[in-house]
Amino acid sequence: MSEHIPVLLKESLEVLNPKPGEVFVDLTLGRAGHSSEILKRLGSEGMLYCFDRDEQAIIEGSAILEKIGRFEAIRANFASFAEELRKRGINQVDGIFADLGVSSPQFDDPERGFSYRFDARLDMRMDRSQTLTAFDVVNTYSLNDLARIIADYGEDRDAYAIAKQIVKRRAIEPIVTTFQLVEAIKSAKPAKALRSKGHPAKQTFQAIRIEVNHEKEALERLLETFAPALRPGGRIAIITFMSLDDRIVKRAFASLTEVEGSRHDAIPMRPEEVKFPPFIKVTRKPLVATGEELLLNRRAQSAKLRAIAKRP
Ligand SMILES: C[S@@+](CC[C@H](N)C(=O)[O-])C[C@H]1O[C@@H](n2cnc3c(N)ncnc32)[C@H](O)[C@@H]1O
Repeated sequence: MSEHIPVLLKESLEVLNPKPGEVFVDLTLGRAGHSSEILKRLGSEGMLYCFDRDEQAIIEGSAILEKIGRFEAIRANFASFAEELRKRGINQVDGIFADLGVSSPQFDDPERGFSYRFDARLDMRMDRSQTLTAFDVVNTYSLNDLARIIADYGEDRDAYAIAKQIVKRRAIEPIVTTFQLVEAIKSAKPAKALRSKGHPAKQTFQAIRIEVNHEKEALERLLETFAPALRPGGRIAIITFMSLDDRIVKRAFASLTEVEGSRHDAIPMRPEEVKFPPFIKVTRKPLVATGEELLLNRRAQSAKLRAIAKRP
């Protein structure tokens, strides 16, 4: 199984600035790449709560953290992180971090059915106890729903043609494997698209994975609920890998850091009328990987890191 190299690690630590004795949350434990470094900085008095939906990540991530410091690994969807913390008597924390999407061990395990590179049963569940799989999405969703998902979550311009091919093929026999799905996608793509850079199935696989794991819903819920869970001075940093996710994070962070009406009012507000927004920008523009990091880790190519801090 492949090694997971943490993306934008140095930058994440800089914006999160974990300090000894603080309480932090890593919403996406994975193989503890970011968690390990955060935990080292929290020292023996600090505490780290880590979340992951994937049992394997909880097992392997915990084994790494055990040698470092005080933590609790919680197997749950991060959409409900605030409730999970409240159950443990924690109302506010000093830092929240998320590194969205799938981990390399998930992608590189053929059995998990995430990848178009291996022939496997269509699965793509991060949480293997959930019932909905990629097989169900591909074989039971309507033509219109498939086309919408592939267009919205995969941003594939051939979405409708791909959905039509899927529906046509599954009427003859179910589409069971990743390679069968790749064939359906390829047959829907014009020759020019097949010659262009990148795997022709990449966007459709991404779209189906997002649907199977309800990734958009989790991110939106997180962005609606994190603000009260941060202490004054607390920081939140999120790494996204898709423009769609980055736009959602950018908009949510902007609404918490910009003065209402400040951008558009024709008549400037008087100083006494200005209400300070509850958060401050930590990153003005999203941070992206340096050339040096890109040489080591291609996955970092599309990564964008945004961070804000609660006004002290
Ligand atoms: C990109 S990996 C994180 C890698 C980690 N930062 C590291 O360096 O090892 C994302 C992880 O988040 C988990 N994940 C994604 N969405 C989740 C959600 N809504 N709730 C809980 N875990 C989630 C995935 O199972 C995966 O293990």
